[in-house]
Amino acid sequence: MAKTALITGVTGQDGSYLSEFLLDKGYEVHGIIRRSSVDYRERIAHLEGTPHFHLHYADMSDSMSLVKLVGKVQPDEIYNLAAQSHVQVSFDSPEFTADVDAVGVLRVLEAVRTNHLEKTCRIYQASTSELYGKVEEVPQSETTPFHPYSPYAVAKLYGYWIIKEYREAYNMFCCSGILFNHESERRGETFVTRKITLAAARIAQGKQDCLYLGNLDSLRDWGYAKDYVECMWLILQHETPEDFVIATGVQHTVREFATLAFRHAGIELRWEGEGVEERGIVVESQKSNVKSGDVVVRVSPDFYRPTDVVNLLGDPSKARRELGWNPQKTSFEELVELMVKHDMQKVRNQHVNLAEYLEKGIVK
Ligand code: NAP
Ligand code: GDD
Repeated sequence: MAKTALITGVTGQDGSYLSEFLLDKGYEVHGIIRRSSVDYRERIAHLEGTPHFHLHYADMSDSMSLVKLVGKVQPDEIYNLAAQSHVQVSFDSPEFTADVDAVGVLRVLEAVRTNHLEKTCRIYQASTSELYGKVEEVPQSETTPFHPYSPYAVAKLYGYWIIKEYREAYNMFCCSGILFNHESERRGETFVTRKITLAAARIAQGKQDCLYLGNLDSLRDWGYAKDYVECMWLILQHETPEDFVIATGVQHTVREFATLAFRHAGIELRWEGEGVEERGIVVESQKSNVKSGDVVVRVSPDFYRPTDVVNLLGDPSKARRELGWNPQKTSFEELVELMVKHDMQKVRNQHVNLAEYLEKGIVK
């Protein structure tokens, strides 16, 4: 019998890759979508209409919708990926973030209990390396103490603990994947990696002059999202419900990411100055519209956070040992290259589309 999975956050980066992964495994996949004034479901558009992929309206802030949906779908596995996932935005919308990212997890757990599925339904919770926040040790593992450092992280900490509580109190198979940053061609465009790869592509093609960033010294353990969704599934196939750190075990600064991304876009950078005065300057360029000496990266305090997490490095030993997962399937260098390649093409196509529209008189 094919298994049935319910994915919250199906329209997001991870939800889209996980849907593809589970469909490939023969699952019946159900996803939760929210009503919005524009139907913006680019990441899953290619799956819509396929026979084993189903979408339902519900919301993490609406318990009734979750209870009804879990009752209707009767999932074997729930992947709770839905969240207000942007750390900086959580400082502007802390209450919404808490409602969705903290209480939302409780709503999912209670929807399972209300439908008497607690003995059969396994639940994956999208926990995060942000829990380590103002880090108390490097690298971070399953035993490192938490020190959340943003409203987002505090909300996610509740999610982590309520999952653990329901596991112990009601013997439910529910677990957290403590995932470090993972990126891809489908990454949201305001997260730092995607913001950089898109800007590098636009600057290389003469469609943007300068990229403004915040803290360039911040260290992250960046992996490839497509590799990480496999772990979500492996965690739920494990014999016992346990929490796992998922990371590559390699870290780089935001500055290093930018240097490499611009290099793949044909622009060699050097860095000058410090703090808000730091600038990324072109040393050499294969692009006719960018010349040596041009300043293409500047720092703007608008992108500084009231408290910033600056030293994330995961220890994936447990996942490697117990799940047989390979943390270095896609290297940092490959990740940056594939993202830039994709965005060079995307920016090129946008130009073609605009030219077509102009020709047809659709855009004046
Ligand atoms: P993402 O691209 O921002 O996707 C978030 C998803 O949550 C979207 O589908 C969004 O729907 C949905 N959502 C937000 N609020 C909702 C609500 N009130 N009701 C229903 N759905 C709602 O995030 P991601 O990068 O795929 O990350 C997936 C999960 O992993 C998140 O929980 C995130 O916090 C966590 N995480 C991510 C990383 C990472 O590096 N990517 C690392 C650790 C943990 P709309 O499309 O309608 O907005
Ligand atoms: N977004 C952004 N924009 N971040 C910047 C910028 C900028 O212009 N300039 C520097 N940064 C720094 C941030 O201060 C942070 O230290 C780092 O780059 C990474 O920022 P993001 O890409 O926004 O990701 P994040 O680490 O805060 O959060 C992501 O990863 C978490 C896992 O650790 C999100 O996906 C979270 O949902 C996830 O839990």
